[in-house]
Parts: sequence; structure tokens; C-alpha cells
Amino acid sequence: MRIVVLTGAGISAESGVATFRDADGLWEGHNVAEVATPEGFAADPDLVQRFYDERRASLATVEPNAAHRALADLESRLGDDLLIVTQNVDDLHERAGSRNVIHMHGELRSAWCLACDDRFPWDAPMATNPQCPGCAVPNLRPDIVWFGEIPYRMEEIQTALLAADIFVAIGTSGEVYPAAGFVALAAQAGARTVELNLNASRITSAFDEVHAGPATEVVTNWVAGLVK
Ligand code: OAD
Repeated sequence: MRIVVLTGAGISAESGVATFRDADGLWEGHNVAEVATPEGFAADPDLVQRFYDERRASLATVEPNAAHRALADLESRLGDDLLIVTQNVDDLHERAGSRNVIHMHGELRSAWCLACDDRFPWDAPMATNPQCPGCAVPNLRPDIVWFGEIPYRMEEIQTALLAADIFVAIGTSGEVYPAAGFVALAAQAGARTVELNLNASRITSAFDEVHAGPATEVVTNWVAGLVK
């Protein structure tokens, strides 16, 4: 049984990571175009670096929750038959123990050197304009996929979706493509589709099965039902 899980900000909400589009969302007080586009970065790199420096630093204050742990537990049973595709830039899946994770929108704890084009783990601030450890040029940017940029590892994701028996979307609003289109692709290829979300998403009607509630409850219950 092959399963592809797509996660969004809602799975990390109960860990204390703000979502993007809920009332207390991350964008509140920040214009998306300013902090999440290449044009915004070109216009005010310092503002953008400080924004992501804050998000990166705040990872030290949060922990994975029961939903992340339930998915890690499922991976320990299914191995490579479970793939997590996350839109999240936090590292809570990994810290819960998941290994087979694709960060399609990049990662806060990764840097991209615009001088030598290398990407590598990064835990420090960037607003101080640090040098690349490889080429020594001080021209790093957050390794985050901004609006107008192409998400990572799309071919691998598509292959997994086409081979999936079950596709599950957890805590994602269905507002941002291409991720919002994964349910249709998986369904066309014959997968059973499941949505686990606090509220109905924009694309709820595309799913065969919908369970509403906080991720720590609905994900834990769904995994328990699957492995029993
Ligand atoms: P959104 O903020 O758009 O949606 C969060 C979803 O989580 C909503 O559907 C909420 O109902 C749900 N939710 C909130 N709390 C929850 C809880 N405790 N349990 C379960 N569900 C809960 O976040 P995403 O869909 O992840 O892109 O946003 C997609 C992309 O938009 C992000 O990856 C980001 C942003 O622009 C980039 O940074 C490139």
C-alpha cells in the first residue's frame, strides 16, 4: 500500500508555528509580495533576511506534535511506501523521526548561495550577510521557494502521486498551486483521497473522505485506523 501525504501549515499549528492564511497567520502585518517573492528580495534584501531569520530562530522554540509523530510512526511501519511531501519550511517532520520527506517549498534551515549555486544546511542569521562556506562570497538567500519560483522535486512528487494507493492532504488550505492540484492527479491515477483539516479547505469537494478536526486528533486517529 503506497501512501503520499501532503502537509501544510495546519499540521504545525498546534506546535505553535503560525499558519499563513488563518486569523493569526504569518502574513499578517507582512505583505506577501515584500517577503515571499524574488522581486521583494531584490527591493529590500535586509527586510526579507530579517523576516526569515526570525522564522528560523523561532524553530528552536517549537516541538513536533502528535500528528508529526503519528506520521513518523507510520513510516516506521511502511518504510519507503510512505512519502511525505510538505509545503512547510519548518523541520518538525524530521524532528519527529520522518526520513522520507520532500520539502517542495524549501527549508528555513537551508541556505542557497547565489554566487556558487550551492545549497547547504544553515542555522544562523543571514541579515548579517555571512560568507558562503564553500566559495566565501557573501551572497546567501533563504532556500525557500517564493511566489513565481518553481517548487522542488516536482518530477519525483508526480511519480509518487501516480503510483499512490492513498493520497492524504493534512492542514493545507488548497489555495496554492501546484500542491492544490495533487488531489486531482492522485485521484485520476486511482488513489483514494483523504482530507484531514480543521475546517473544510477550498478544495474539500475533490476528496473521497474528509475528517475535520485539529491535526493532533484527526491525524492520530487516521493513522491508528490504518495500522489496526
Ligand atoms: P494555509 O495557512 O494557507 O492553510 C492552513 C490550513 O491549515 C487551513 O486550511 C486551516 O484550516 C488548517 N489548520 C489550521 N490549524 C489546524 C490544525 N490545528 N489542525 C489541522 N488543520 C489546521 O497554509 P498552507 O496551505 O500550508 O508557501 O499554505 C500553502 C503555502 O502558502 C505555504 O507553503 C506558503 C504559503 O504561501 C511558501 O512559503 C512558498
